[in-house]
Amino acid sequence: MRYALISDVHANLPALEAVLGNIDSRTDVDAIYHLGDLVGYAPWPDETVDLIRARGIPGVAGNYDSTTATGYLHCGCRYEDPRQEELSHLSYEWTRTRVSTETKRFLAGLPFRIDLRPLGGHVAGPRLSLIHGNPVLNTVYWTEDRPDRFCLQMAALLEAKAGDTIAFGHTHKPWHREIEGIHLVNTGSVGRPKDGDWRAGYAVVEIDDVVTVEYVRVEYDLERAARAIRDSDLPDDFAGYLERGGMPAAR
Ligand SMILES: [Fe+2]
Repeated sequence: MRYALISDVHANLPALEAVLGNIDSRTDVDAIYHLGDLVGYAPWPDETVDLIRARGIPGVAGNYDSTTATGYLHCGCRYEDPRQEELSHLSYEWTRTRVSTETKRFLAGLPFRIDLRPLGGHVAGPRLSLIHGNPVLNTVYWTEDRPDRFCLQMAALLEAKAGDTIAFGHTHKPWHREIEGIHLVNTGSVGRPKDGDWRAGYAVVEIDDVVTVEYVRVEYDLERAARAIRDSDLPDDFAGYLERGGMPAAR
């Protein structure tokens, strides 16, 4: 089975359209799942959810989805400085107050976790577990530099065994590690990459006797996204952020 995994679209409709177009153009993908954070930071939260629903793409709730759905105090995002914190609150307020009731309802219905059996439930394992950020809390960042001990603790929470795969997003930086036979796959971000590459990113995970991970980057209409952000009440900073692939602005 080959799964296309898309995460952290963050209301960037042009990026989502390009990624789905890219997935559609290949014939080797058996299923598509999203790993949460459909909304926030860009002006198309309803349109993004509409497209995900129209395509019937199942997935899990990210921190932005569950906080928007519940009207929580903040989006559960991490900030590196006071300016980022201020921007993050502006984005959350914008999103929370603008999304339709229909969108909120859809976000509220997303599960925290999805378990798949790529070879079928009639044989034991392997398993593919989909979460947004972390098996217990979507505000914890599972970064590539986490020690093996941390990764194995997380894997144990999901009862993962050798041969199993855990896929997630949330950090917006793609990475793949294998620890004691367990594959950890961060799919990167469709609509708000933070690794310096502005192109939309997704992962294709193939599970057979072995696990193979392919990272794909897709060019999209960045100008359309940046213009729409600048034309909206969202902070203009978010347009520059997309253009720089999440890198800090030159001073
Ligand atoms: Fe995110």
